[in-house]
Amino acid sequence: MDAAQLRAAFPVLEKSAYLNAGTCGPVPAAAQRAAVEAWRLGTEEGRGGPFYERLIGLSDQLRERYAAVLGADALDVALMSGTSDGCGRVVAGLRLGPGGEILTADDEHPGLQGPLIAARLHRGVKIRAVPLAELPGAVSDNTKLIACSHVSWHSGAVAPVAELSKVARARDVPLLLDGAQGVGAVPTDVAELGASFYAGSGQKWLCGPVGCGMLWVDPAWLDRLDAPTPAYRGLETPSAGLSGALAPGARRYDLPSQDLAVIAAAVAAFDVLADAGLAELQAVAIARAAQLAEALRDAGHEVVPRGDSTLVSWGVDGGDDEAVGLRDRLLEQGIVVRDLPGAGRLRASVGAWNDDDDLHRLVTALA
Ligand SMILES: Cc1ncc(COP(=O)(O)O)c(C=O)c1O
Repeated sequence: MDAAQLRAAFPVLEKSAYLNAGTCGPVPAAAQRAAVEAWRLGTEEGRGGPFYERLIGLSDQLRERYAAVLGADALDVALMSGTSDGCGRVVAGLRLGPGGEILTADDEHPGLQGPLIAARLHRGVKIRAVPLAELPGAVSDNTKLIACSHVSWHSGAVAPVAELSKVARARDVPLLLDGAQGVGAVPTDVAELGASFYAGSGQKWLCGPVGCGMLWVDPAWLDRLDAPTPAYRGLETPSAGLSGALAPGARRYDLPSQDLAVIAAAVAAFDVLADAGLAELQAVAIARAAQLAEALRDAGHEVVPRGDSTLVSWGVDGGDDEAVGLRDRLLEQGIVVRDLPGAGRLRASVGAWNDDDDLHRLVTALA
């Protein structure tokens, strides 16, 4: 990885200490160019055959890229609008009914909590939440799904995935990992993780546009997960009419439509990272996040206990209001972090594209 070359790929880094990839990654100029070209094609040449051929070809390319970062077969990867989409499709598609329980962690993101609330309201499913680290010991005979983050968006703690997947497999209970803060940021080989489903975002650590993401489905669960919206891409032969079959593999879960600009920009962004070496980028980012956590602790901040991840959160005296105020004051100085509502915390997301100066600017501005 050439650090200077990597930084130069992201225009926002010229003026900002951009530490917000956990919300949305920095957008590489190459992704902007790809999106503009997609819109030029549609606007100037119309959205006819060539436009759709390009959309289909690039969708396949994006699926292959997502499969590569997950260490998976492209056949087992569906294209989503983001992590929430993938989580929702799994929770809704598992045929869970009254009395069954979904076990989850107590600091999950609304993108996972929403589908859980809907399962409780619409299907009478019981939801039980425990601390992320305690999940493996909390699985009960009544647990029909374990659904939790790979990496907690609040603390940056990493779920005890090895233990959890072992318990899940022993009981034939599916394990859904919300990988919004996982994929692109930390190693995400799905065979090693041992989950049944892995949902991820394209716009965060993979630096794509908003509106792209993935869902990996273990083939062992394909027949037990309903496909709610199979459309053109989700059918084996779209022209077969009502006698048609669902597409083989996870393509049946694809969201029904996506804009060419989104797909093209997602592929271009991915390639910027892949050219630099995804595994190396992850290792650098994890090390740099640890460096920031230490610097914040040294400066007297209360860093929330975390894991080997790319997120660093710390408490702000004065709670939520003060956290929002501080976030905005940092923004005025060109330092982009987010607040975590309800927790009185700020969170910095550290990528391999961040340099020492970005971290120093944050620590100094907080002094
Ligand atoms: C842990 C977690 N899950 C889900 C989401 C939602 O992701 P998306 O916007 O891709 O649906 C986020 C985004 O912030 C997140 O941090």
